[in-house]
This record gives sequence, C-alpha cells and structure tokens, in this order.
Amino acid sequence: MNEATNKTESEQKAVQPTLKLKFLSHGTLESKDLDFTRKFYEEFLGLEVVRASKVSIWCRLGGAHIYVVVQVPEGKKTEMPFLNHNGIDVETEEEVDECHRLAVRDAAIWNLRKISKPMVQHGTYSFYFWDADDNSWEILANPPGGYSWMFERGDQEGAGHMSRNFERPTSTRRKPPKGTA
Ligand SMILES: [Fe+2]
Repeated sequence: MNEATNKTESEQKAVQPTLKLKFLSHGTLESKDLDFTRKFYEEFLGLEVVRASKVSIWCRLGGAHIYVVVQVPEGKKTEMPFLNHNGIDVETEEEVDECHRLAVRDAAIWNLRKISKPMVQHGTYSFYFWDADDNSWEILANPPGGYSWMFERGDQEGAGHMSRNFERPTSTRRKPPKGTA
C-alpha cells in the first residue's frame, strides 16, 4: 500500500498486533562499578535507584519505565555507540544550558567525557556526554511527558524530526530577552 502514512494516534491503535503486550517496562545498561554508578545516578543525575541483586541496580526517573544496570566483568565494557544513547528531559532550553554548565563543572568528579555543546541537533535542543561506564546520555528539553507530543502529531514526512527547522514544542523554547518580544 502506498497511501500516505500520516496516521494519528487513534488510527495507529487500530492495528492488531500479534502479541498482546502491555507495557515497555525496561531497558538494560552496563556498569563497570555498580557502587560508583549508583552514586553517579543518585548524586549527579538524580535518578531513583534500588539494588536488585549483587550484580544489578535498577533506576527510574519521572515514570515507571526503568533501566536494569548490570555489572560487567572488568575490561569487558565497550563504549556505548552514540546512537544507543539514553535521553533525560528537562523542560526548557535554559535548563539544558544549566545542566551543561554543571556537567562541565563536575566532569572530573564523575569522569564525564565528550561533553558536547548544547544545540538544536535534530529538532531537539540538547547536549550529550559519556559517563564513567562509557554509557552515552543526552540531556534535552521536552515538555512533561517526554516525547508524547510526537505521538499526538502523528507520522512525519521527509526529514521530520531530524530537520534543524523542525517545530519544537513551544513550551521548551528559549524565552526572548526581556524587552525584545
Ligand atoms: Fe536522542
């Protein structure tokens, strides 16, 4: 079928999947040192963390989806590819800038590397860095509810969200300096 695929949320729900699954509960991450990783998650990222076993911690923030973080043998952890990064939201571009300032400030404490400058990279204002476990993170501006707004807009055509000119959610956008609006 070659008809336009600009499906709305309700039209997408009409698809009947083979598996009747209920909830995307977790992803997995690797850690070189669970105690350090937990400290970093709690004290820098502000994630909620629980120890699930001798070799794993679980974490979450702002919702019920979690990451299971598993200890890997020394020397076995490789650098997470950029496209496997995990995103954590703040609500405005100003807050992204502030997170970037703090990441640069505390980089030596947490062994953060390759901290990029905040910018609009794919229709989202954000920056990236790699942590002591060589896992890649993105701090981005999104409204409460994360990327839910894209499911409300429906399928995009062409460059879509990858376009530099993509229309970002208004609430996240930098406020013009006073007196210029
Ligand atoms: Fe991303």
